[in-house]
Amino acid sequence: MAITSITDTTTLSNGVKMPWFGLGTMSTGQSDEEVAEVIKSAAKVGYRSFDTAKVYKNETGVGKGLKESGVAREELFITTKLANTDHGYDEALKAFDESMEKLGLDYLDMYLVHWPVPGHLESWKALEKLYKDGRVRAIGVSNFLGHHLEALFKVAEIRPMVNQYEYHPLLTQKDLLAYNKAQDIQVEGYYALRDSQEIPEIIEIARNCKKTPAQVVLRWSLQSGVVTIPKSTREERQRENAGIFDFELSEQDMAVIDSLDNEKRRNPHPDEVKVSK
Ligand SMILES: NC(=O)c1ccc[n+]([C@@H]2O[C@H](COP(=O)([O-])OP(=O)(O)OC[C@H]3O[C@@H](n4cnc5c(N)ncnc54)[C@H](OP(=O)(O)O)[C@@H]3O)[C@@H](O)[C@H]2O)c1
Repeated sequence: MAITSITDTTTLSNGVKMPWFGLGTMSTGQSDEEVAEVIKSAAKVGYRSFDTAKVYKNETGVGKGLKESGVAREELFITTKLANTDHGYDEALKAFDESMEKLGLDYLDMYLVHWPVPGHLESWKALEKLYKDGRVRAIGVSNFLGHHLEALFKVAEIRPMVNQYEYHPLLTQKDLLAYNKAQDIQVEGYYALRDSQEIPEIIEIARNCKKTPAQVVLRWSLQSGVVTIPKSTREERQRENAGIFDFELSEQDMAVIDSLDNEKRRNPHPDEVKVSK
């Protein structure tokens, strides 16, 4: 699988094309203006996919930045998520409308159930309606393990197209990745950069490839078939993180990184997440 450009896409199970690479937007600023500046600098670098969520409290800033970037709407791929506090059929529809209002959009590219907490199966029916009504081009889940997906399949008329979860060299969950692939669900990983840049094996591979540790980890994700959404508020790092389309890791380098897994989870285990207002 050759991924050679920031605009290269993976084709989801419903035929929608989603960029392999995007910007995470959690903690990108205190004010809408600050967030908007981060979005605009990423758009200038060439980012076209942006990942936000109601709980990041930045949808207004993200929407403002996208509008001011001048990038045509059809070039963008915008994801937001249904919060744990908004489950239920009517509640989910309302939360979607509120997110769209803040983002200033008339359609969304992807809407995800943020965590598999109680009520999410009712919410899924709302996501299916939004999808059928053409208000969102793809629907999916986040932080779902195999058993959550199996329970969802029992009630779903439309299966999730994406599962976004914590994925980095110290937490690869190889069985979960294989399961998602077998179910034709595209995995999107988060926290790629959090712990991996200090790992000696990654530093060594980076030296040999004449790349930075961040670039090696992000490239490893893509070559593993996992969409990646690193976050940076700084333009020079946004550029560095996007500098991963002109090299390829060898099979041996991939195997070294794959062997680093020690099940180090940063976020709560999906079965233990607490719902709080
Ligand atoms: N679905 C979920 O439950 C969930 C949970 C967590 C996150 N997410 C999504 O995933 C995205 C990524 O997660 P994240 O933002 O927490 O973590 P991340 O992208 O793994 O790492 C971001 C951190 O690394 C720093 N950084 C970025 N590029 C760097 C580079 N080239 N060299 C050194 N440091 C660098 C950033 O600082 P600077 O900004 O100062 O550069 C920031 O502190 C989030 O923004 C969010 O969109 C989803």
